[in-house]
Amino acid sequence: MQIPTYIIGIESSCDETGIAIYHKNLGLVSDVLYSQSHLHAVYGGVVPELAARDHAHRILPLIQQALSKANISLQDLGGIAYCAGPGLGGALLVGASVGRTLGWLLKRPAIGIHHLEAHLLSPLLENSGDIKFPFIALLVSGGHTLLASVTGVGQYAILGETLDDAAGEAFDKTAKLLGLSYPGGPALAKLALAGDPSCFKFPRPLCGRPNLDFSFSGLKTAVSRCWESIGHDQGQKANIARAFEDAVIDVLAKKSLQALKESGLQQLVIAGGVSANQRLRATLTEQLESIGASLYCPPLRLCTDNGAMIAYAGFLRMQKGLYNTQNMDIKPRWSIEDIP
Ligand code: KG4
Ligand code: ZN
Repeated sequence: MQIPTYIIGIESSCDETGIAIYHKNLGLVSDVLYSQSHLHAVYGGVVPELAARDHAHRILPLIQQALSKANISLQDLGGIAYCAGPGLGGALLVGASVGRTLGWLLKRPAIGIHHLEAHLLSPLLENSGDIKFPFIALLVSGGHTLLASVTGVGQYAILGETLDDAAGEAFDKTAKLLGLSYPGGPALAKLALAGDPSCFKFPRPLCGRPNLDFSFSGLKTAVSRCWESIGHDQGQKANIARAFEDAVIDVLAKKSLQALKESGLQQLVIAGGVSANQRLRATLTEQLESIGASLYCPPLRLCTDNGAMIAYAGFLRMQKGLYNTQNMDIKPRWSIEDIP
């Protein structure tokens, strides 16, 4: 099949409605996003039913907005890529129903994209000339944390993953514990900048083990115990945030370097919400430089959920003929190794 000129990407797996349009030669021509975070902030976390309803409310106006920014009409779309999972069932259904309906109406291919695959390929959107397969990917989001070996589009082998909380989840839960507002990751990272790294030290779970798995729930418990023991001393809050962030970054960096060493690869790609963390980027840049390896990160606006990464993954899959328009299911739970 000919590669469509314009591909629309639809993201609705969690609390962001993202719509973007990718042109096969020009790249991204529009990228619009509506974040629901203020809606969920009062509950301290994402409320799935509210998320689904809000996606349903926003999605069509956002598609209109994306089309007009790209200066094209619905008929110009040659392909549709929507996020089919993993994520919240009701939220995914909104994007999938709209995506499939557009496909039927316009008689264009509509394909379901794996959310983590889209995150993982997002650094290639603006660096596609520099990054060469194979590479190691560190995917650190609110729902997942894993290291994968990437040999091509659709070819992912998980080298290690979290046994409990994801890195972003640990940031969010620790932030909540310290009384920071939702979403906690960016707030905690900001607070940590003012912290003294020598005041507290938290454990580095699973470091020193030969495998590449992660575990963050014990770290959260260690922070909780420490916070209780100092009687919620507000003067120590930034120091605790700093020690927590140091522990997470240390573990992520150690395991990433171990993956590079064991695989003999020289490129590390990081993606997902936590890859926006400036101190994680700085630490990895420094440590990779010392072993002659390179780090690739998505631009900040593409770290957290967005439609651009879905449109781009759709483009790459259509370009390589790697898609199946018959598969209509959404998959709230879906391993990146099981993409058909
Ligand atoms: O990839 P993402 O938008 O959603 C999922 O697919 O889960 O990631 C969101 C996660 C949240 O846990 C958020 O707190 C975290 O990414 N995050 C950060 C930062 N920015 C976002 N964590 C640490 N430092 C940041 N600067
Ligand atoms: Zn995500």
